[in-house]
Amino acid sequence: MSQKTAEKHIFFTKKLLEWNQLINKRSMPWKFEKNPYKIWLSEIILQQTRVEQGTEYYNNFIKKYPNIKKLASAKEEDIYKLWEGLGYYTRCKNLIATARFISIEKKGIFPNTYNEILAQKGIGPYTAAAISSFAFNLPYAVVDGNVMRVLARFFGIDTAIDSTIGKKVFNELANNLLDKKEPAIYNQAIMDFGATVCKPQLPVCQQCNLAAHCFSYNNDIVNEYPVKEKKLLKKERWFYYFIIKQNNTFWIKKREKKDIWQNLHEFFLLESNVKIGIKQLINSNEIHQIVSKEYRIKKTSEEFVQQLTHQTIHATFIELETKASSLPEDYFAVDETSLGKLAFPKIIKDYLQKFSG
Ligand code: ADE
Repeated sequence: MSQKTAEKHIFFTKKLLEWNQLINKRSMPWKFEKNPYKIWLSEIILQQTRVEQGTEYYNNFIKKYPNIKKLASAKEEDIYKLWEGLGYYTRCKNLIATARFISIEKKGIFPNTYNEILAQKGIGPYTAAAISSFAFNLPYAVVDGNVMRVLARFFGIDTAIDSTIGKKVFNELANNLLDKKEPAIYNQAIMDFGATVCKPQLPVCQQCNLAAHCFSYNNDIVNEYPVKEKKLLKKERWFYYFIIKQNNTFWIKKREKKDIWQNLHEFFLLESNVKIGIKQLINSNEIHQIVSKEYRIKKTSEEFVQQLTHQTIHATFIELETKASSLPEDYFAVDETSLGKLAFPKIIKDYLQKFSG
C-alpha cells in the first residue's frame, strides 16, 4: 500500500469516528446492546425492513421472547404471526432453526467465535460480523450495501458491488479500515453514517466531514456510485385469490411449496403469468371444479401490487359465497375470528385490513 493510500485510510477511520462521537445522534433500541441474541434478532429483522418499521418488530419479539430459549420453545405459528408483514419467510424459518439448535445443542449459550456464529443457519458473513463485533468486540468489519456504498463513493471504487470480485475488494478494504480496538463502535458508526449522511438518495455531502477527501464528491459523481453489474429483471405474477365463504367459514390453505411465502396461509389461488379478466376467471374450469353451481360473487377488489426482490406480485381478491361445495384437499375451514390468528403474506393482510367486513 502506498503512503498516500495509507493516509487516506487513516483519514477515513479518524473522521468517521469523529463524526460518530460529535454528530451522530441516531438512537435505536439495539444500539450498544451486548446480548448476542438481541443483536442477532435485530440484524435479521433489519435485513427485511428499515429501522423505523423494524423497531416495532424488534420490540414485539423481545417482549414476547426475551431470550433464545423462549424463542426456541415457542410455537412456530406464533413466531410466524409476529413476523407477519416482514416477508421473506425463509429468514424466519432459519431464525427458528438456529434458536432451537443453540437452545438444545449449546444449552442456550450463543457461540462466541466468528466461525461458529457464521456456521449457524441464516447467518451470513454480514450478520456474523455484526454479532461478533457488537457482542464480543471481535475485529470483523460489517460489509453490506450501505457500507459498500460509502466506501465506493469515498474511495472511488468502480468494481461492481454485486460481483464476486467486488465482494472481495470491499471486504478487504472494510477490514483494513476497521478500528481493531473498537470494532463495535466503528461498525455501528459506519452503518449510521451510511443511513443518515451518505444515503442512497440525496446524500448530505455539504455537511459531511469526510467530503474534503471524498473521491466522488470532489469529482461531482456521487450519484454514479456504487456501480452495479446486474440490472434486475423482475418476474411478474398475477394472483387471483378467491375468498370462498361457506357457512360463515373461509377456505384456507397453508403454502407448503418451495416458493415465496412458505408456511404462510392463503385463500384459494389461481395463478397466471399474464393478467386475466375477472369474467374469464369466474367461468373457468378451475372454479367450476371446486365450487358447486350455486355460488355468488360478492365483491371483486382492485389490484394490489407487492414488489419483492426478484418478482412483482399483482393480487386481486374475489369474494365468493357458496353453500354446498366440499372443501378441497389441503384446505381447512376457518371462521372469521380465527382468521386473525393465522399468518398471512403482507398483500393478503393488507386486503383484509382494507376491505373485509
Ligand atoms: N442496519 C442493519 N443493522 C443495523 C444496525 N445495527 N444499526 C443500524 N442500522 C442497521
